Amino acid sequence: MKNFLKTSDLQLSELKSILASANLIKSGQTKEKSLAGKSVALVFFNPSLRTRASMQVGIYELGGNAVILEPGGSSWTLEHREGVVMDGNKTEHLAEFVRVLERYVSAIGVRTFAELKDWDIERTDPILNAFAKYASVPVINLESAMHHPCQSMADIMTIRQKLGTERKKVLLTWAWHPKPLPMAVPNSFALAAAQFGHDLRIAHPVGYELDGELIAEMQQLSSANGGTIEFTTDAASAYDEVDVVYAKSWGSKNFYGNEVGDIAHRANLRSDWIVDEEKMGRSNDAIFMHCLPVRRNVIVTDGVIDSPRSVVIDEAENRLHVQKAIMTRLLGSQ
Ligand code: CP
Repeated sequence: MKNFLKTSDLQLSELKSILASANLIKSGQTKEKSLAGKSVALVFFNPSLRTRASMQVGIYELGGNAVILEPGGSSWTLEHREGVVMDGNKTEHLAEFVRVLERYVSAIGVRTFAELKDWDIERTDPILNAFAKYASVPVINLESAMHHPCQSMADIMTIRQKLGTERKKVLLTWAWHPKPLPMAVPNSFALAAAQFGHDLRIAHPVGYELDGELIAEMQQLSSANGGTIEFTTDAASAYDEVDVVYAKSWGSKNFYGNEVGDIAHRANLRSDWIVDEEKMGRSNDAIFMHCLPVRRNVIVTDGVIDSPRSVVIDEAENRLHVQKAIMTRLLGSQ
């Protein structure tokens, strides 16, 4: 395990081993200083609360030092494309940025959201992969255009803590939001749920399908691990008898680079695609999950997110434990 870019780069046994370590860390049974004397760079192209705070605290608690860099803010603007003439507004190329940085640090975490401009390019995760290409130290994906694996590992950890390790009926549902958002969280949650062999139902309006190649990968992993995957465009019956409701909004591939078109297309979807008490009532007393940040009474009603079945705060806490386990796995024995 050199990098941590997406969960499907790892075997299920390796993912379970990371979760076992995260459980020991959370319970206080492990207090290993696996990063003693080491620094980890955290490169944030985009805003964050949970990822930034939990990584910084986690590195400190493991005995290490976090170096936070914000390209275009507190550090130089960065170019990642090869062979470009850099006569625009980008000051430094990743080829130098990464190779200089790794003379100082033992690993690099990167947050680089989709820009929602060009689907064919962004679906290949070009910036994250450029980091991985130039780095000889481990690279940790802190949310890229296509994946948010630290989030999905915390999500699976939360499901297992709340409901046990057996196979569950899990709903990933699209929710209305005033503007299109990246697909990394739904991609990674669906992929991890498939890998862990859950019975996954994915609900979204027509036109909001996930990436076809990713769906094929999910289906292969799901059947290999004893799970199932089904799709529905019915916002209400999707909740029938599920144990987990995971809500997230995302943009349509069909309107990629056309925010105005997506906003117009989703205009009539608002009232149907909110997580509310009525829909949750169709479930098997499901827990409610969301990666946060969340818009209250847009994505989910106050009644649901404030209910005893909402686990969003525990889910956010588990980011800390699972990321400490991932960093220990990547760096602990070096
Ligand atoms: N869920 C998540 O990654 O939160 P932040 O964007 O606040 O880091």
